[in-house]
Amino acid sequence: MDLIEHWNTAYTARAEDALTWFEATPAQSLRLVRQHLPQGGALVDVGAGASRLVDHALADGAGAVTVLDLSDTALDIIRARLGDAATRVSFIATDIRDWHPDRVYDVWHDRAVFHFLTDRADQERYLATLSKALAPAGIAILATFDLTGPETCSGLPVQRYSPQTLAATLAALAPGQFAPLASEHFDHRTPKGNSQAFQVSVFRKLA
Ligand SMILES: C[S@@+](CC[C@H](N)C(=O)[O-])C[C@H]1O[C@@H](n2cnc3c(N)ncnc32)[C@H](O)[C@@H]1O
Repeated sequence: MDLIEHWNTAYTARAEDALTWFEATPAQSLRLVRQHLPQGGALVDVGAGASRLVDHALADGAGAVTVLDLSDTALDIIRARLGDAATRVSFIATDIRDWHPDRVYDVWHDRAVFHFLTDRADQERYLATLSKALAPAGIAILATFDLTGPETCSGLPVQRYSPQTLAATLAALAPGQFAPLASEHFDHRTPKGNSQAFQVSVFRKLA
């Protein structure tokens, strides 16, 4: 399957606010980013899609904001929405598995992207990139479907995690590199009113 085509189609087939993962305000993400991003710090939203997290981060005074997604169509929705403010954002259209970051970030945010990586080699690659991209003591915020969440997302199979199994995965695939700091469970309400169980975990880079 061509993943880029899959995701570009997802963002053209339906309005942004009809996508199952749509959030008018990304409340959990925003609260955690505000808690961990220093004033003027650098944030990367990995698999940002069309998320409004970037709008809030700019309004909050983030020093640098990067949004990365393999779907250009999704990134175009952010560009159009931000208008002139889009010049303050770095847009990177790539598969996270192919990304070689050229700077470091204080906070890495991922809502519903890591869970698509069901292959161990892909997970290892992702974590190696996460480690390279984070500044010393940088923070990773990783939101995935919880163990009782759906088995697929946008028609693709996902790996579901509890905070414990996610921490164990990071410890096994990137030993000694990330310390779990906090975690929480939340239910996302889709535009059709269905409930999706998420976990979100916060890790600090150690190495
Ligand atoms: C379920 S959506 C979540 C979007 C956004 N994080 C949010 O919370 O609204 C998953 C996003 O991840 C992107 N994506 C999926 N696999 C990816 C990969 N390997 N590399 C980069 N982006 C990916 C998709 O294009 C899509 O925008």
